[in-house]
Amino acid sequence: MMTGEKYKESAVLKFEGREVELPVVVGTEGDKALDIKQLRASTGLVTIDPGFVNTASCCSQITYIDGDRGILRYRGIPIEELVKKSTFVDVAYLLVHGTLPTEQERLDFSCMLNLNSMIHEDMRHFFDHFPQGAHPMHILSTMINAMAAFYPNVDVNTTASNIEQSCARVISIVRTIAAFAYKKSIGEPIVYPRHDLSYCANFLNMMFDSPVQPYHISAETVRLLNVLFILHADHEQNCSTSAVRAIGSAQVNLYATISAGTSALSGPLHGGANQAVIEQLRMIHADGDIEKFIKMAKDKNNPFRLMGFGHRVYKAYDPRAAIIRKECENYLSRIGSNDPLLNVARRIEEIALNDSYFVDRCLYPNVDFYTGILYRAMGIPENMFTVMFALARLPGWVAHWKEMIGDETKIVRPRQLYVGRTLQEVGEELEGRASTFLL
Ligand code: ACO
Repeated sequence: MMTGEKYKESAVLKFEGREVELPVVVGTEGDKALDIKQLRASTGLVTIDPGFVNTASCCSQITYIDGDRGILRYRGIPIEELVKKSTFVDVAYLLVHGTLPTEQERLDFSCMLNLNSMIHEDMRHFFDHFPQGAHPMHILSTMINAMAAFYPNVDVNTTASNIEQSCARVISIVRTIAAFAYKKSIGEPIVYPRHDLSYCANFLNMMFDSPVQPYHISAETVRLLNVLFILHADHEQNCSTSAVRAIGSAQVNLYATISAGTSALSGPLHGGANQAVIEQLRMIHADGDIEKFIKMAKDKNNPFRLMGFGHRVYKAYDPRAAIIRKECENYLSRIGSNDPLLNVARRIEEIALNDSYFVDRCLYPNVDFYTGILYRAMGIPENMFTVMFALARLPGWVAHWKEMIGDETKIVRPRQLYVGRTLQEVGEELEGRASTFLL
């Protein structure tokens, strides 16, 4: 089993007059964790940690985050380096396989993505039966789940070559499904994937090409999409990745597992935040009184939150947000866009960075704060923002699923602390009802 280095140190817990020694596990970056596997057997105690705020659910070799120092690395490589020197396909390979691809490996991987880019023709008809206006994230998770009925199941018992192909298939096809869902939502004919286009260019072409107006693929837009996708590609044990690991631990097939991750991502506190940010910025811009909304966000009696602010792990500036903000400023000025929402966003950030409420709680812009403004400038419709996030996160989900099935993972099954009623008698109100049920 993949574990950190063990047992050099330990911690001692005193409980009910006894002392129990708990081993300390050390990660490669020096982080330490208490191994509590034997705690219940030796003391009868379980641990309680709602939202897993302080619980490492697994050991992983994929992504390293230091939230206090604003560090994010995939397989040891800083995100800033990857954004400068690699493409999304390179990063997908890195996450899934553990190293950046050689020239030959990149070629083979690209071929595999191309060969698996079409969806089964029968699945195409499914799009006709979603109601007009259905959110593309709902269509996406349904279609991914349906893949299990069309393609051979892949699970923990599947051979390595099947796993390789299925991982490539899911990364490639989901892009096609996403673009088809968009075309369906605007009533335009679908555009098939092309083997002569790179991953990101192919997606943009499927989204925007039309029989009456061919799409011009701009190299700059392709580069930006690569940057955005790289920045979103993995983020260790976030909500959707934890969903993927939890569902996958029951030995569910890959497609159902990825579909579960997609559903988790759709929530506004997670991937849905990028759409929620734009909606909120628009509302604040229309109102004009930014200070009022800052006050609302700080009011304990008001559920209003600044969308795109705060993060469970980052207590320093989110390194992804820093890169996106810069790209956003550059791109908008290059294309001559004067999006008023960028000014609103800048002003909110400026106020928040100087306000003790946000400073004391380490609330900085997260990856979603500027992403939506950039997507808008690239012509991506708002209801597709979270779908873009899902496409980008696919390699991360696949990598975690692959790591998890290769490990001796136990089925995810947390304990609980029961706080409900103790043993109750059946009340008089139910007596005599049994015979009624039988009638
Ligand atoms: N606006 C105002 N106050 C906030 C915000 C915010 N966006 N985020 C957190 N706070 C406050 C909380 O009210 C709380 O205050 P308190 O200590 O006085 O009670 C404190 O900061 C800690 O907040 P928690 O909710 O305990 O932090 P948690 O780690 O559970 O939540 C989360 C993190 C969900 C990201 C939260 O900051 C949030 O809701 N942000 C807005 C939604 C968002 O942008 N989500 C995207 C996250 S990134 C991603 O998924 C890609």
